[in-house]
Amino acid sequence: MMRNKVILITGANGEVGHGLINQLSAIKDMPPVMVLDIRGLDKSMESKVYETIVGDILDNGLLETLVSEYEIVTIFHLAALLSTHSEFRPEAAHRVNVQGTVNLLQLAVEQSRISGRPVKFIFPSSVAVYGMPDIATKNAAPPVKEDEFTIPTTMYGINKLYGEHTGRYYTHHYRQLADVPQRSGVDFRSLRFPGLISATTMPTGGTSDYAPEMLHAAAKGEPYACFVRPDTAIPFMAMPDAIRALLEIADAPRERLTRTVYNVTSFSLPAGEIADIVRSAFPSAQITFEPHPQRQGIVDSWCAQMDDSAAQRDWGWKPEYDLNRAFHEYLIPTIRKQYT
Ligand code: SER
Repeated sequence: MMRNKVILITGANGEVGHGLINQLSAIKDMPPVMVLDIRGLDKSMESKVYETIVGDILDNGLLETLVSEYEIVTIFHLAALLSTHSEFRPEAAHRVNVQGTVNLLQLAVEQSRISGRPVKFIFPSSVAVYGMPDIATKNAAPPVKEDEFTIPTTMYGINKLYGEHTGRYYTHHYRQLADVPQRSGVDFRSLRFPGLISATTMPTGGTSDYAPEMLHAAAKGEPYACFVRPDTAIPFMAMPDAIRALLEIADAPRERLTRTVYNVTSFSLPAGEIADIVRSAFPSAQITFEPHPQRQGIVDSWCAQMDDSAAQRDWGWKPEYDLNRAFHEYLIPTIRKQYT
């Protein structure tokens, strides 16, 4: 039976999903996009995808149906509970972030068994996999490489780190001894993102959310109480760079990749400096700092800067939006237009 080739995006109704759908729908000769999201897909996005499935990545019956009806060539597995939400419901986070990821990896194995071709599995990981032991170490550390300080303190960070390792296992070591004594056809590639800032969408349940929240609140004329101290620094990236990074890692020739997980980053700055930039663009912005102890603790455990030299070397990664371009060419003008 001929089955339609599709790209599957899980968690597609989140902000990375929206950005990815917009980009993929603009590229010619791409297989159509099928989305799976527990919340469905916003109406405004529906015309850009081939099919929307409202469903849960923990529903194995549903995943089996997908494999039997479609030939899934690439999976962007974006579905996850982010870091703040995961601390409220750690066991639920474990189910979604860990069991959900294993379910999708199994789907990829099944798919490649049927088609005889490897399935690309693109997995966004996060700066949250890092766990800096204390602020002094965080502030003194040079940009952190992939294999340094990976002792996360949050359920989300632990779940993402496990997802990275499990993907590496499925790509390089998975054998079903009793069944097929060969490697699986999963071609897993993961990016560790810093905090992402979009001009058009808002994150839900993350801990880097203070940056986008501050900007969007100022543009709407609403006061904003930032939940971390002004001196708190983590790395960030503008959403268009994040989407491009996902498409580039998906496209990179396998033989160029020396790792299964790569840091990607753009600029790092303290929350107080973000507030200064926002105030100079929106002079009536009312920004205060009211640190929330737990959320402050989460961001304090993340590194201040990431080293993405492996991505630069192996597949030519380079952000297009540095600090200046991100705020002055992308974020501020787009957000301003959106709310006026
Ligand atoms: N932005 C995410 C979060 O804050 C990090 O992956 O949870």
